[in-house]
Order: sequence, then structure tokens, then C-alpha cells
Amino acid sequence: MSAQDQSASNKSSDLDRVAKVIAARKTLKVLGDPADPIAIATEVASVRDAQVLDALRVAGMAPFHYDRAIDSIAEPWRAHVIWNSGCRDVANRLPEWIGAEQSAGKLPAMFAACGAAVLITWLPQFRDQPSAKPEQIDVDDEHLAASSAMVQNLLVLLTAAGMGTYWSSGGVVKQPSVSQQFGIGSNEKLLAVVFVEYPETMSAEIERKPGKHRDSRSDRWIKQVKL
Ligand SMILES: Cc1cc2nc3c(=O)[nH]c(=O)nc-3n(C[C@H](O)[C@H](O)[C@H](O)COP(=O)(O)O)c2cc1C
Repeated sequence: MSAQDQSASNKSSDLDRVAKVIAARKTLKVLGDPADPIAIATEVASVRDAQVLDALRVAGMAPFHYDRAIDSIAEPWRAHVIWNSGCRDVANRLPEWIGAEQSAGKLPAMFAACGAAVLITWLPQFRDQPSAKPEQIDVDDEHLAASSAMVQNLLVLLTAAGMGTYWSSGGVVKQPSVSQQFGIGSNEKLLAVVFVEYPETMSAEIERKPGKHRDSRSDRWIKQVKL
């Protein structure tokens, strides 16, 4: 095979692999028992936690349009990682953080089942200013768009690592009484709580639910422009 053919063939297998992983990514809501949360063995955690951190670093190669320049960090997103022992703690303490008059929904069950949870926030720049101009709101939209690209990168990379994922909007985690427990600043807006299931717990007999729109897909949103 010529060097040129070899290069073309490598490119097509890269394409196949990336396409396969993107298509394989799917929402899986894994529901554990907050009173008996899943514990990840130390030797498993040492390998899988490192993979999650590696995936985050690569996910951070997402494009971003504007230097957000907070704390000398250019990216408009932040990631707050809670490892399994912390997740078990959250499963237990979330009801207490939000008070008796509110419900945490399925969140305690999801924190009780995950290997890790990654809280991804973005940093609005203008939208909280009453005098924000439309073009400034456009800049904020692009900070959010870039942060969403980073989240999708992370989901795809974790899928490639054999892990289960679920992008949750976060529900009550958005509340300051909860988000401040994780060190999320008041200038950050929660975009995603990514629940990560480690391969070692995938055979556990607990409830797993797919995303509600999984089967509503089509490609009818693709419009080919004819001029
Ligand atoms: C921005 C965003 C927020 C989401 N938040 C939730 C959520 O709070 N609860 C939920 O059940 N699914 C949530 N999802 C996941 C969708 O339900 C899921 O992607 C959809 O049902 C399609 O399923 P699939 O991801 O398996 O293709 C969210 C997805 C996105 C992109």
C-alpha cells in the first residue's frame, strides 16, 4: 500500500471510529439506593478516576470564541468533579441541603449509583446586566454554545472509555444552597451534571432508564440549500 493510500485508509478508520462512538453515546439514568449507595473499590477508582480526568482534559479542546479571562482562564466553562465517595455523601445530604419543603427528585438515587459526577458550569458575561446590548447577549450565547460543545466532547470520550453517561440539567443542584457546597461560584451557571457510570458497576441489578427522546430522532432537520 502506498503512503498516500495508507493515510487515506487511516483517515477512514478514524472517521468510522468517531462516528461509531458518537452514535453509541446514549443517556442512561442509573438509579441507586441513597440508603445503600454503590461504592467503587479503591483500585478501580484509581484507574477510572484518572480516565475521567483525562477525558475532561481532552473535552476541553472544544472550540471557544471569546477569551472569558476570569482568573487568567480563557475558557468560558468550569468543571467540578465529585468522585464516588463524595457522590455517596451528596446522595445522603442533598435532602438536608434543600430543606423539607422541596424535593430532590431522582438526584439522590443518581448520586447513589455513579462512579463520578461532573458538574459543568459556564460563565455568563453580560446577561445579568439590565443594560446588556443584543450583541453582548450574542457573546454570552457563544460562551454557552462553546461550553455545550465541551460537554458533548466529554460524553463522547467517556462513551469511548466504556462508561455510561447521563447529562442532567441539575434540578436543585442549581440552587445556591447546594451549588456552594461544591465550590461553584455565584458567577457560574450550571449547564450539566454529567453522571458517569463506571464499567465495573454496569452489571449491578439496579434501575436504568433511557433518555425520553432517544427514539424521536430523524434527520429531517437537515436542509440542503438550493440557490
Ligand atoms: C442540555 C440538556 C439537558 C438535559 N437535561 C436532562 C434532564 O434534566 N433530565 C433528563 O431526563 N434528561 C436530560 N437530558 C437528556 C435528554 O433527555 C436526552 O439526551 C434525550 O432524551 C435523548 O436521549 P439520548 O441522549 O439517549 O439520545 C438533557 C440533555 C441536554 C442536551
